[in-house]
Amino acid sequence: MNRHKDKKDTILIVDFGSQYSMLISRRVREMGVYCKICTFKDLKKNILEDSVKGVILSGSPNSVVKKNDDNSYKFLFESGVPVLGICYGMHLMSLYFQGKVITSKKKEFGRVKLSIHRQCSLTQGIYDDLDSSGFSKLKVWMSHSDIIEKIPKNFQVFASTENCRYAIIGDEKKKIYGVQFHPEVTHTNRGKHIIRRFVFSICHCENGWKPNIKISNMIQKIRNQIGNDQIILAFSGGVDSFVTALLIHRAVGKNLFCIFVDTGLLRLHELERILKYSSRFHFNLIVVSEEDRFLRALRNVKSPEKKRMIVGKIFTEIFNEQARKRKNVRWFAQGTIYPDVIESKLVLDQKNIKSHHNVRGLVGLDKSLKILEPIKNLFKDEVREIAKKLEVPKKVIYGHPFPGPGISIRILGCVKKKYCEILRQADHIFTEELLKHNLYYKVSQSFAIFIPMKSVGIMGDNRKYEWIISLRAIKTNDFMTADWFHFPRKFLERVSNRIINEVNSISRVVYDISSKPPSTIEWE
Ligand code: XMP
Repeated sequence: MNRHKDKKDTILIVDFGSQYSMLISRRVREMGVYCKICTFKDLKKNILEDSVKGVILSGSPNSVVKKNDDNSYKFLFESGVPVLGICYGMHLMSLYFQGKVITSKKKEFGRVKLSIHRQCSLTQGIYDDLDSSGFSKLKVWMSHSDIIEKIPKNFQVFASTENCRYAIIGDEKKKIYGVQFHPEVTHTNRGKHIIRRFVFSICHCENGWKPNIKISNMIQKIRNQIGNDQIILAFSGGVDSFVTALLIHRAVGKNLFCIFVDTGLLRLHELERILKYSSRFHFNLIVVSEEDRFLRALRNVKSPEKKRMIVGKIFTEIFNEQARKRKNVRWFAQGTIYPDVIESKLVLDQKNIKSHHNVRGLVGLDKSLKILEPIKNLFKDEVREIAKKLEVPKKVIYGHPFPGPGISIRILGCVKKKYCEILRQADHIFTEELLKHNLYYKVSQSFAIFIPMKSVGIMGDNRKYEWIISLRAIKTNDFMTADWFHFPRKFLERVSNRIINEVNSISRVVYDISSKPPSTIEWE
């Protein structure tokens, strides 16, 4: 996907369906080097361009074990362009060069210690510490079930882990390297530096490339597209839809209708907040209150994916209704950003993690409506930069993301109005305390989860038998990986006390200490 025009030296990332391909591209771009994600099919024509300085082969949910080598990689591996294969990418290159890949008896998943026993251009100067034999040690993130059993003839082994003999291999002469772990995720210490060494020391890229995001160009482009038509926007009030609203509003003014749906699955005081923040921008904001409709449709529905689909379906119905109400509506806009597209499997053939309703769930939208997604190619921090320039309030820019299906996926199993009310209060207390203790902007996302199981407690002299609330708070750069947040104990104690004392029907508060992966940020 050619995201920006003014390219200089280019790294091509071949996506074999890994959920981390976008992260690889992110890492390269952060270094000021242009890169492009492409399919293997596209690689053949792209690699001929002079600007291509290196190729990174992504991981994949697939396996090469049953694959017969068909020589289709010859053009790549004989091109003289440096290649870095990550996990599946490394297996592919091993197969091509007559190595052997097998399904391992021991799967590796999580952080492991890598021992670098021979330095190479990829790892020079990169380590956490040294062991007693003087070997460099590095904590890296593994996620694989296949391993290399025999490396190709001219390849050397540079690093191993306890369960994986060939964790970094390569042919220094050909500038072809393979890593079994994922340097692109933040769980790999100094992973960025490994990619940096590939990009600069091995591919000799020049930096200095900057994404070409000009607000005036974006507005002009929208104006050219929409003309005098009317357009409705799915407006949630988060930074993505806020920026989308402001861009379109500047382009077409009163022809934009921002539709905010009160699903009954919102956080406490959400609507009031949105009305307050958007009032000074003077775009048309239409609030559609449909709590009953959503709760009725969700009654007795347990499955998280079904809940998402139901919420998405009603959203679509509402947008169709709103479009039909007006004469000239020809467009439907939403604030989809690049990670939404990736996580929703719209790009290439990645395995679907969760269907984000804003991208996938809107099936059934009137065919007459054309889709406009003006920030679809941007990452969150790029959207935030634009938001700052457009003077969006800080609380919106840095507000924690809130999923489209709302608290329906924060109530485990069936959704009931009573559960929503309890959860909303607990969640509000948590947020209030985070703000009070200057912790809100230190965590990337925080919320409460309602666990519909009863647990015993005592209140005064009486036995209590009530529900459970879990608190979740994470720190992340990109929401693709995340660490649970370490709060001071006193803080957790205070939140727990307040929830148990102030929210009826809660007898116990727990704190979620799982990271992503293997857990996701949301519980459903
Ligand atoms: P997970 O739970 O997949 O979440 O680790 C990653 C980020 O995406 C948000 N999320 C959603 N957003 N519709 C949305 O609009 C959804 O169905 C959905 N599910 C997860 C999540 O809150 C986190 O910020």
